[in-house]
Amino acid sequence: MKTITRDKIWLSSPHMGGGEQKYVQEAFDTNWVAPLGPNVDNFEKSINQFVGGNVHVAALSSGTAAIHLALELLGVTKGDEVICQSFTFSASANPIMYLGATPIFVDSEKDTWNISPELLEKAIKDRISNGKKPKAIVAVHLYGMPYKVEEITQVSKKYDIPVVEDSAEALGSSFKNEKCGTFGTIGILSFNGNKIITTSGGGALIAQEETVKKKAVFLATQARDDAPHYQHSSVGYNYRMSNILAGIGRGQMEVLQNRVNQRRFNFDFYKKHLAHLPEIEFLEESNAYYSNRWLTCILTPSFAIREKIRLALLEDDVESRPLWKPMHLQPVFAKFPHYSDGTSEDLFNRGLCLPSGSNLSQADLERIVELILTKI
Ligand SMILES: Cc1ncc(COP(=O)(O)O)c(C=O)c1O
Repeated sequence: MKTITRDKIWLSSPHMGGGEQKYVQEAFDTNWVAPLGPNVDNFEKSINQFVGGNVHVAALSSGTAAIHLALELLGVTKGDEVICQSFTFSASANPIMYLGATPIFVDSEKDTWNISPELLEKAIKDRISNGKKPKAIVAVHLYGMPYKVEEITQVSKKYDIPVVEDSAEALGSSFKNEKCGTFGTIGILSFNGNKIITTSGGGALIAQEETVKKKAVFLATQARDDAPHYQHSSVGYNYRMSNILAGIGRGQMEVLQNRVNQRRFNFDFYKKHLAHLPEIEFLEESNAYYSNRWLTCILTPSFAIREKIRLALLEDDVESRPLWKPMHLQPVFAKFPHYSDGTSEDLFNRGLCLPSGSNLSQADLERIVELILTKI
């Protein structure tokens, strides 16, 4: 009997728009192959235009680098405490460790799956009563769903603690028509290969003030003092984005809204065909929330059903992923304080990310839905 082999379906793969090669070629033609150059400037400008607001964007080598610089710019040093959303990817928390600071993990609420304003305030009060006021808060718009912007900003203001807005997964998302990346004291983006747009690897820092952007660029380019020779008064990093990768970014920015629309279409398709099942629940947008639906996530009634779906998809070469495992449950972070009520642990146990690339075909989507409907 002949076996029919079908193409693998990826969770979220790069999707070039066509314009990228033109900008990369330009970099070669003009020999702007070294770091910096017109593509970097223009990529930053197009991000700036897209997110709007009076912000200042620095293109960097990764989102992780952007979080590292953001924390350093906010004065985080050895021995400080930094609050971090527990339900996230480890890159939100790792830079806290790079700086020798202590992460304090806070659980999520059920409306957006992001950091709970109540638990955040509880954690801050408790840390202060223990003798140390947290130096910063890392809040994340997970899977593209904006966190509770007003509530988190209010807590940040009340206790005068700056927010690093981890918008790695949320370029194109907004709250009350304002774009994610512009809400925090400092925002960050990622252009990693699985993100809504990619430069193959890259990130950006979004500052509210130009001086902060300048300081970020200074630190990202080895902290060279203004002198004809190499002189350094601070420790620097090699964190700037190259002019070649920024060329890819320029092309990707031309199709960004289209990519958001395609990912939102995926979400609507899954919902239309699966929401009637008692086993499957979707995360809805509350009023004024607009998610880029970077990944479509489903919640099932139990770990067993989640695994049944995941393994059925895997058997047919369809990649899916359990939701992020919370940081307070990760071996590397388990010894640090956490303020949790079980929400993110429950989401991790019952949740699954479905293939969500903007390059999925109608046939791909139909195949995935069909598999779930028959195997559940
Ligand atoms: C929530 C979150 N924060 C930070 C990052 C780090 O970004 P990068 O991979 O560009 O370093 C990622 C993605 O990789 C992420 O998903």
